[in-house]
Amino acid sequence: MFATYRPHLLSTLIAVGIGATFLSASDGHGQSAVDPTSAVDDSGNIQVPDVNYRKDWVALGTWAVAADEGVLGSNGMHVVYTQEETISAYLETGQFPDGAVLVKELLGTETAEMTTGTISRASDIEGWFVMVKDSTGKFEETNGLWGEGWGWAYFGADNRVETTTTDYEGECLGCHVPAQDTDWIYTQGYPVLRQ
Ligand code: HEC
Repeated sequence: MFATYRPHLLSTLIAVGIGATFLSASDGHGQSAVDPTSAVDDSGNIQVPDVNYRKDWVALGTWAVAADEGVLGSNGMHVVYTQEETISAYLETGQFPDGAVLVKELLGTETAEMTTGTISRASDIEGWFVMVKDSTGKFEETNGLWGEGWGWAYFGADNRVETTTTDYEGECLGCHVPAQDTDWIYTQGYPVLRQ
């Protein structure tokens, strides 16, 4: 499906083993932590999760970007996914658990006349935004991608492992201020999180 996506059976098996440990661990805040290792390593380096999140994670919601004035349809779609365990924990506690990974796909669109009307559909990947929850702040002193309880990174469509961003404060945070009261996440776009 992705030109650069190569599932490795071995890493999947290892991830399943680690996942079991994480799910039984507590993050020190009385919540169960979720396994973030598909998206972050021991040093806090972030990548687009090395899983088939479209199939194996849950789609939180889609944002449709309006086309220019006078043009019909959508100019792009942002589809956001997370682990199933993150949704279960959020519904229980009202908070994102440590290890929660949110991946926002940027997709191009094609618009056509269909039997339902003028309809836009998703086309190719243009990039990803990834956030990883860590309320302990363990990477915040050493890695400029971490702060406010999250790791923050952007990836262009050609490289899902190396981020092109270096500074979450300058490159991400300002735009997320309107969502500060909901832990910097635009939760109003995600119907599955509504109690
Ligand atoms: C130009 C403003 C802007 C910038 C810059 C920005 N964001 Fe966002 N982000 C938004 C908005 C608005 C949404 C929700 C609506 C949308 O997708 O358009 C969002 C949604 C997201 C989501 C989906 C979860 C959520 O919060 O709803 C992730 C993940 C995300 N952004 C990560 C990042 C990261 C990481 C950076 C920096 C590398 C970043 N964003 C920079 C405005 C921005």
